[in-house]
Amino acid sequence: MALPEGFLEDLKFRNPIEDVISSYVSLKRAGSNLVGLCPFHNEKSPSFTVFPATRGFYCFGCGAGGDAITFVMKAENLDYIGAVEHLCKRAGIEMPQDDYAKRRGEDDVKKARVFAANRDAARFYHDMLSKPEGQAGLAYLRSRGLSDAVIRRFGLGFAPDEFTLRKNLFLDHMMGLGYTEKELLASFLCAKSQKNGRLYPIFRNRVMFPVIDITGEVVAFGGRVMDASKPKYLNSSDTPGFKKSRTLFALNYAKHACAERLVLCEGYMDVIAVHAAGMPNAVATLGTAITAEQARIMARYTKEVVIAYDMDDAGRRAAEKAIHLLDGVGVRTKILKLNGAKDPDEFIRKYGADAFRLRLDDSENQFDYRCSTVIASHDLDDFNDRMACISELTALLATLHTDVERDVYIGRISEKLGIARESLKNDVLRARKRQERTREKEETRRQIQQSAGYGDRINPDRSKYRRAASAEESVLGILLLYPELLAEVVSGDIALCEDDFLTVFNRRVFAFLVRCREEHGRFDLGYLGEVFNDEEIGRITGMQVARTKLTQNDLSVIRDNIAVLREEGAKEKQKGGELSTDDLMNIIKSRKGN
Ligand code: GTP
Ligand code: MN
Repeated sequence: MALPEGFLEDLKFRNPIEDVISSYVSLKRAGSNLVGLCPFHNEKSPSFTVFPATRGFYCFGCGAGGDAITFVMKAENLDYIGAVEHLCKRAGIEMPQDDYAKRRGEDDVKKARVFAANRDAARFYHDMLSKPEGQAGLAYLRSRGLSDAVIRRFGLGFAPDEFTLRKNLFLDHMMGLGYTEKELLASFLCAKSQKNGRLYPIFRNRVMFPVIDITGEVVAFGGRVMDASKPKYLNSSDTPGFKKSRTLFALNYAKHACAERLVLCEGYMDVIAVHAAGMPNAVATLGTAITAEQARIMARYTKEVVIAYDMDDAGRRAAEKAIHLLDGVGVRTKILKLNGAKDPDEFIRKYGADAFRLRLDDSENQFDYRCSTVIASHDLDDFNDRMACISELTALLATLHTDVERDVYIGRISEKLGIARESLKNDVLRARKRQERTREKEETRRQIQQSAGYGDRINPDRSKYRRAASAEESVLGILLLYPELLAEVVSGDIALCEDDFLTVFNRRVFAFLVRCREEHGRFDLGYLGEVFNDEEIGRITGMQVARTKLTQNDLSVIRDNIAVLREEGAKEKQKGGELSTDDLMNIIKSRKGN
């Protein structure tokens, strides 16, 4: 916590939150605040609110919240310091070079070394292709149809079979460059033998695909065997500089070419084949199913994702998941249908780049895809099956948001199945009403649960100490809004202290406020990012926002709530070892269960 005093104020003054956010979200004025559609969840009516007065934002729908720094962290997928840097750049101020920057330096020593090690490793693997030990690798890559230019562009390489060669080519090379054992282990380039404690290279006798992040650092590798042995691919695990769940292969190239459309493939070879065919807008996940983080990253770069997965069962399931996640971040999706080949690489080799491009252009959109899946899975000549098919399609049609879309598809499907348009339309309307009611019920239940604190991951104690938690949140909310009151609250006759808090999360928030005042002389939402995660910051902002809706926010309200808190605290103490009726009931219940 060593930002130079006054730095955050300056940073935020020069980056008004409404300006920062309006380059991501279209905002409309609503009284003294601004509202828009939340960029962090999918919504149809705006619950995302920007509060210029407190320089914060909060989404009443998904609970995301914070200040300009938190917003940039979430929107640009950056860490705290990265977001500060981003805002510095945006406003044209220099990043402070004191101990703050130094701390970043220290934190990153390892990361920087990991990056350097990976880069040197990539060079080593690539250079192997022109050495006698690497000829098998070169021959394999060529056998997969890759030209020398493509091999160079993707920095492909070969990790020699050191165990058979009885040489330490890789290790000697890396040690010679000054990398320590610890650094090579942290980079996931080497492992240690359980038997003799010796270091050995993880990738051996494999062709190597370096993974390069969007800033151009080599962060990981995928290594493929050249025969049918298992595992086919070996991928780096997470390292200090690499999170698999946040990385996409070839996004470093694709990011310049994918504003309109991104092609999402399953494997390295597919991506390379698509790029080599003259479409540099393909990416792949790294041997795992797509994550929400990856979907959010794609949403930053593109409007539409064409999913080019294998069309076996596993591929279809993976495609469903991708559609769902991308839908959630507002990206249009289409499914690529490749007849006569199992994946894009095979398709392009068999039918050529132009055929692939044509397929891309008429790839089905997500809705068509779902409809044809439903239709294909039923026997339309069988009466019962036909009815089941119609009812599944009805439910599907009901999920379309606009009347126009519904109309178009109702027309197409009624024609395809030979049913009356009007009756299908009526069924769909009924299904919509049903879905609406279920959604409302779910929303009510969610709200009840939330206010009761059940399933509260952030502050699990909330359900146990409901009255105390709400008093705590009132106190914290006011202090967050008027931090200058803190001095009086912690001293004199009030003397609020950590022990007064019954729930762990709220106690942490209070301790943080106190520490901020000691260290910075004041509190600012901007400091939260150093200690709390996204969801927690959302919750804390929520406490502040809840108070802005109330008219009385002063010491007397704080006093009343602290009184409640202490009353509850005393009750807890009194209970001491005694069992509460609730506890007793639980014990009785669990006995019965046995
Ligand atoms: P080729 O057989 O070289 O054409 O690869 P592919 O890309 O067609 O392979 P496949 O569809 O089998 O796999 C797709 C992706 O899944 C690969 O690029 C890898 O990232 C990952 N993958 C495949 N096999 C394995 C494995 O055995 N282990 C792990 N961890 N990942 C794998
Ligand atoms: Mn393949």
